[in-house]
Amino acid sequence: MTARSIIIDTDPGHDDAVAILVALASPELAVRGITTVAGNVPLALTTRNARRVLALAGREDVPLFAGCGRPLLRPLVTAEAVHGQTGLDGAELPEPTVPLSDRHAVDWLVDTLLAARDDPVTLCPLGPLTNIAMALVREPRIADGIAQVVLMGGAAFAGGNTTPAAEFNIYVDPHAADIVFRSGLPLTMLPLDCTHKALMQADWIEGLGRLGTRVGQAVSALLRFYQRYDVAKYGSSGGPLHDPTVIAYLLQPQLFAGKTCNVRVEVGSPLTLGMTVTDWWGVTGEPANCTVITEVDAAGFFALVADRLGRL
Ligand code: BDR
Ligand code: CA
Repeated sequence: MTARSIIIDTDPGHDDAVAILVALASPELAVRGITTVAGNVPLALTTRNARRVLALAGREDVPLFAGCGRPLLRPLVTAEAVHGQTGLDGAELPEPTVPLSDRHAVDWLVDTLLAARDDPVTLCPLGPLTNIAMALVREPRIADGIAQVVLMGGAAFAGGNTTPAAEFNIYVDPHAADIVFRSGLPLTMLPLDCTHKALMQADWIEGLGRLGTRVGQAVSALLRFYQRYDVAKYGSSGGPLHDPTVIAYLLQPQLFAGKTCNVRVEVGSPLTLGMTVTDWWGVTGEPANCTVITEVDAAGFFALVADRLGRL
């Protein structure tokens, strides 16, 4: 089996942390590197958090690069209410032990993707799309080194989680998202329509703690903290686990279903800024640019995540 090369662009974040761990635990995937972006918390914290997750996994050999500290045009909006002041509240995580690279993530993305024409890489953005848009603008030829972009973000019919119209990752940097959705790259989006159909239940979270591993105990504590916010917000029995759907989709696409259609990002209207306007019925005649995933086998998804976490 040849492992698929991926790069994870991320703003950890509890669900980002789980996505990184699941990817690292999966032999089907070769994580070529991790790039961090400002999002759930400012860049210094998302970078520190990504490094702590690598330390937790015992994988500080994975290259990690800090990227953009703010969106292209707008001031940064963060989500401490969801993820806590550190961005990963709820568990004691190890401190990183190796120095952070002084290369900028966008520089590394450009060089790596230019060199990847013969073995294109799948990009997995789990946060605002600032780094990806910056790399595409700086060097459009990187497109030849990108197999596809599979991202968590947006909402087709679900409504927003940050404004009535917009999901957090797209809302934080709508202009970057607009660049990515107009790029012509093969895109797959795991929007709220999908992630809100897979809600973590308390016994599943407790079960991770019973794996008897350091990773299982840390993730269980993290997710106990993480889901308190969404349970209160939505009045549901559990909260969504957004970002790992990207990794699960790469591992077991049969767990998911959706449709390929035209998606555009709203960048003009103050009321609906960051909305992912999805032409599900093809009424515009505009060409399809994105596979929009709206369905997930929740039981299969949570079994996959637990299985992979149990390997670490
Ligand atoms: C997205 O926003 C962030 O808070 C999560 O990490 C996820 O990427 C969900 O809207
Ligand atoms: Ca995220």
